[in-house]
Amino acid sequence: MIYLDNAATSGYRPDSVVRAVEHCLTRVNANPGRSGHRQSVEAARVIFDARQKVKSFFSAPNSDLVFFTQNATQALNTVILGTVPRGGSVVTTSMEHNSVMRPLSRLSSAREVKVLRAGLAKDGAPDLDDFRAKARGASLAVVNGASNVTGRIAPIAEILDICRSERVPILVDAAQTAGSVLISLDSLPVDYLAFTGHKGLAGPPGTGGLIAADPYRMEPLMYGGTGSNSEHEEQPSIFPDRFESGTMNTPGIAGLGAAIDEINAVGVEEIRYHKEELAGILIGGLSAIKGVNVHAAPPMSNAGVVSFTCDRLTPSDMAARLDRDFGIMTRPGLHCAPAAHKAIGTFPRGTVRFSVSLRNSVGDAWAAVKAVSEIVA
Ligand SMILES: Cc1ncc(COP(=O)(O)O)c(C=O)c1O
Repeated sequence: MIYLDNAATSGYRPDSVVRAVEHCLTRVNANPGRSGHRQSVEAARVIFDARQKVKSFFSAPNSDLVFFTQNATQALNTVILGTVPRGGSVVTTSMEHNSVMRPLSRLSSAREVKVLRAGLAKDGAPDLDDFRAKARGASLAVVNGASNVTGRIAPIAEILDICRSERVPILVDAAQTAGSVLISLDSLPVDYLAFTGHKGLAGPPGTGGLIAADPYRMEPLMYGGTGSNSEHEEQPSIFPDRFESGTMNTPGIAGLGAAIDEINAVGVEEIRYHKEELAGILIGGLSAIKGVNVHAAPPMSNAGVVSFTCDRLTPSDMAARLDRDFGIMTRPGLHCAPAAHKAIGTFPRGTVRFSVSLRNSVGDAWAAVKAVSEIVA
């Protein structure tokens, strides 16, 4: 079996991640920060350690600005719904995931917010002139670090420059880049970074986070028990508590910490080169098959995602054949990103998407190309 659906969720979890989750479930079974007994203190320490690891991994200025969430979607919703005022406008791109487009759509109907989408340049990246024009006067900019359809890594440094000169806070959706492309808030100090634990970082599902440079500008998405300031019925104003209501996913967060250690041991740059190599094989091999059309950024600007369509087979038929006859797992369809498929001309059927992880080999990529070639033949 060959798992090539890592953009949906990682096909592998390192043993150390599994062990960290298991250790937490069996040995640290207590509510962090609630009860004060030794096991509860130990659970709080697990979360503290993981928060430090996230802070260092992304070079965040302060660990109190790291908020754990269930996934990237919750982090994105927190910023989008928590910062944009009634009647404001948001600039984004035509390549965003529904985890961005749906909260934006909600804002446009509930708060009369204008959503402006920059088009695509010829190379498949956001058109920066269009982005600049649309950013003028916006309350927020939202851009993905890499597209989950074409793999295109966005020019975040240039986009950040535009946002700074237009005085627009920027939210980066790092769902497809955390663990695959180096992200350092030291050198690219975006206002908000939303990430997920279960894709490129290979941590447990149900983990993710938000790093916010200025959380004072944001309203929480949820209100409730934090274990702190229990004498007040109002949400605490201290961080990270203000944005972490309810019992936390301690086992998942322990696993996320272990996952970050694993990524650090290999090195994000190393992972990036590996994905670039595999993307190169997939793009080159698929492009050489008659009747196959590749929809992917070139390897050097690709985060490990290669989409394609076939002239004579629907994406779901191709994916079903790959699974049934070759044991190759992929994702067909719209990948929760209908806007992106409209932008690249593959709506409504979508594409078949190959997405690789650190654990996929060169042999996996060639096997996928050979399988597509045989099915098409
Ligand atoms: C670009 C992008 N943004 C957001 C998400 C949502 O991530 P999560 O599953 O962690 O909520 C995904 C996941 O598919 C994605 O690819």
